[in-house]
Amino acid sequence: MIISVDTLSNKIKEKILKISKKHNLKLVSVALEPDKATLAYLNSQKKMSKNLNIEYEIIKTNSKKKLIESILELNKDKKVNGIFLSQPLPFDTYEISLLIDPKKDVEGITPYNLGKLIYGKSFVKPCTADSIIRILQSFTNLDGKKVSVIGRSVIVGMPVSIMLSNKENNATVTICHSHTKNIKEITLNSDIIVSAVGHPNFITKDMIRKNSIIIDVGINVVNGEIIGDVEKSVQDIAFITEVPGGVGEITSLILFENLTKLFFIQMDKKQA
Ligand SMILES: NC(=O)c1ccc[n+]([C@@H]2O[C@H](COP(=O)([O-])OP(=O)(O)OC[C@H]3O[C@@H](n4cnc5c(N)ncnc54)[C@H](OP(=O)(O)O)[C@@H]3O)[C@@H](O)[C@H]2O)c1
Repeated sequence: MIISVDTLSNKIKEKILKISKKHNLKLVSVALEPDKATLAYLNSQKKMSKNLNIEYEIIKTNSKKKLIESILELNKDKKVNGIFLSQPLPFDTYEISLLIDPKKDVEGITPYNLGKLIYGKSFVKPCTADSIIRILQSFTNLDGKKVSVIGRSVIVGMPVSIMLSNKENNATVTICHSHTKNIKEITLNSDIIVSAVGHPNFITKDMIRKNSIIIDVGINVVNGEIIGDVEKSVQDIAFITEVPGGVGEITSLILFENLTKLFFIQMDKKQA
C-alpha cells in the first residue's frame, strides 16, 4: 500500500509559485569537484527551479579554498537568497556549514539553525527531516505513536528524531544505528519506521507488523536502478513511501519552500 505524496507536493508547489511570481528569488548550489551523480542531482534542481520560476546557478569549485571563497562571496551577494552545499564533501562538513550565513541556509543545516530546531524556534528545518514529518502529518496523527528511526545522521536521523518527539508531534522515538542490537525487536514494536540507512533491502517483511507505516528515505543504486532501503514485498502488509518519489520529491520542494522563507527573513531582519 503506497503512501501518495501528490496532494502534499501540489500544495507546496502552489505555495512557492505564489511567492516566486511576485518576487525575484535566487538559489545557488556550490559543489566541490562534482561527480556524475552529483551533477545529475544538481541538474534536476535546475529543472525544478525553472518550473518554480526561481533563478538558479551552479558553482563548481576544484579546491576547499575556492569552495570557502565562493560561500563567503555568496553570503555577501544581496541577489542570492539561498546557498545549497552539495554533499558529500571529502572532509568534515561541519567546518563549512559554520561559514554559511544562517539566513541563506536553505537546507537548515548550519549549527545555528539546528540549535534553533531543538528550541522549537527554527525558521528553516532540515529539508529531508521536514519532508518525512510533513508526509507523516498528512497521513496519520503522530501523537503517542511509537516510531523507530534507523540512522542518526546530522541531516536526516537526528533532526527527524527531534522533530518527531517535539511538542508539535508528540511521538515516542527510538533511534537506531549500526551499534543497535536486535533492530527487529524494536521495529516489530513500532507503529512507524523511518529508514535512513542507505542499504538496499535493509527492512524486510519479517521486521514489521501489519498496517505499520514505513518511510523509506534510502537512495541506493542497484544495477542502474534507484531503490530504497525497504524490501518490495513490505508493501503487501504496510503503508510505504515510494523510492524514487516519496520523501525525495517532497525534500526537493521543501528546499525551494525554505528559500521563500529565507527571502522574507532577509527582507525583515526582525523575524530572524
Ligand atoms: N530522499 C531524500 O531526500 C534523501 C535525503 C538525504 C539522504 N537520503 C538517503 O538516505 C540514506 C541515509 O542518508 P544519510 O545522509 O543519513 O546517511 P549516513 O550519514 O551514511 O547515515 C546512515 C546511518 O545509518 C546507520 N546504519 C548503517 N548501517 C546500519 C546497520 N546495519 N544497522 C543500523 N543502522 C545502520 C548509520 O549508523 P552509524 O551512525 O552507527 O554509522 C548512520 O547513522 C542514504 O541512502 C541517502 O542517500 C535521501
